[in-house]
Amino acid sequence: MLIELPRHTEIFGSVKIHELQRVLKLDSGGFENPRACDIAFESIKKVLKRLAIVVPIKDENIHLLEGVLRAIPFDCSVIVVSNSAREPQDIYKMERDVITNVHNLTQQEMLIVHQKDPELGFAFYDLGYDHLLDSDRLVRDGKAEGMIVGMLLAKALGKDFIGFADADNYIPGSVREYVMDYAAGFCMSESPYSMVRLHWRYKPKVVEDRLYFKKWGRVSETTNKYLNLLLSTSTGFETRVVITGNAGEHALTMKLADIMSYSTGYSIEPFHFVYLFDEFGLKAEKIVYSDVVSAGIEVFQIETLNPHIHEEKGEEHIKNMLLGSLSTIYNSKLCNDYVRQKVLEELVDILERWEKPPEMFIMPPIGDIDAIKFAKLLNAHSDTFLWLKQGIFEEKVDEEAYLRSFKTGTFE
Ligand code: GDD
Repeated sequence: MLIELPRHTEIFGSVKIHELQRVLKLDSGGFENPRACDIAFESIKKVLKRLAIVVPIKDENIHLLEGVLRAIPFDCSVIVVSNSAREPQDIYKMERDVITNVHNLTQQEMLIVHQKDPELGFAFYDLGYDHLLDSDRLVRDGKAEGMIVGMLLAKALGKDFIGFADADNYIPGSVREYVMDYAAGFCMSESPYSMVRLHWRYKPKVVEDRLYFKKWGRVSETTNKYLNLLLSTSTGFETRVVITGNAGEHALTMKLADIMSYSTGYSIEPFHFVYLFDEFGLKAEKIVYSDVVSAGIEVFQIETLNPHIHEEKGEEHIKNMLLGSLSTIYNSKLCNDYVRQKVLEELVDILERWEKPPEMFIMPPIGDIDAIKFAKLLNAHSDTFLWLKQGIFEEKVDEEAYLRSFKTGTFE
């Protein structure tokens, strides 16, 4: 792959944020190029083998899920965490059937679990991590909550990298590119604590019967503006380096995933930046992870070659996402009175009413959870957890017998 080198890197305490890097070509010729980084396919493939892709899903079109599953490169493991309806129609069952079918045809390693499975809640409770549980000890609704489940399963599989892909993508080829872009980012990284965030080249919309190749969405434009304002007011130097504040498509090294805190629902992505600024930025109050500080944290922002076409979820959904994003910024330790006032004014514009941003649920790092035990608990007790291993053909003649034999297997 041929990727532009970043023109500039903003250094904020231990956090290095690289400016946008465009994907110039999905493959490359291996030539020296002073303006671009040429990453050999073999290097990308090595990373793919150590990468799990987590697909959070809630009631999406099943055809879109199938396209996404078939697009994720074979060398990665796929972990689907579903919060889809079980009734009146069992959408989760349909998803499980699609996954089993794709696995049987491709032999790729695939896992699925339902977010509301009581055994999943119990596994978290048993392991002493109840920060994402509700009063019935079930995992709460929310994309972030599903992502945490996926990250733990990736850790149990021994993966070094975790990436995310939304299930509602209309273009399977773009999903494939996203995963390759993650791998390319990790090939460029010099720190074991790094994150790759994608910026879509275009997000096309239908305007008066024609496709209009829009560059920016309202949510990302607003989130980026205020994340940059946090940085600018802290350093005294204006910056526009952050362009991926809401990047749903992103990937982390497991080492970084282990030490991050996570905000709930859709605010998880902007909170990545807020957390890194607060804990590892210029004004960090105490150093908890000294090895991270000495290695530094790298954030890559890569512009994809493919456009992004996905399901549109409506105006109310956009407003909720904006409220989540702006709340994380408002509650940042770096947020001064000036930024707070600006955020409040922005919220009045968006919501058409005055609303003080709520405090977000913050889920502490998952690094101390015993991920193997977590997976073993699911393997032994959960009815919704299905783990289809690479290269093992599962003929689903008798599903019950199949599940029984699966459950008695050891998790290694
Ligand atoms: N497991 C799980 N649990 N998945 C969920 C949940 C949940 O409670 N809620 C939503 N999802 C899944 C959706 O089915 C989809 O696959 C993915 O999470 C993203 O949700 P969407 O509702 O499609 O979000 P969006 O397209 O408006 O926004 C996406 O892009 C933004 C900009 O990059 C999300 O990824 C945002 O987080 C992101 O900021």
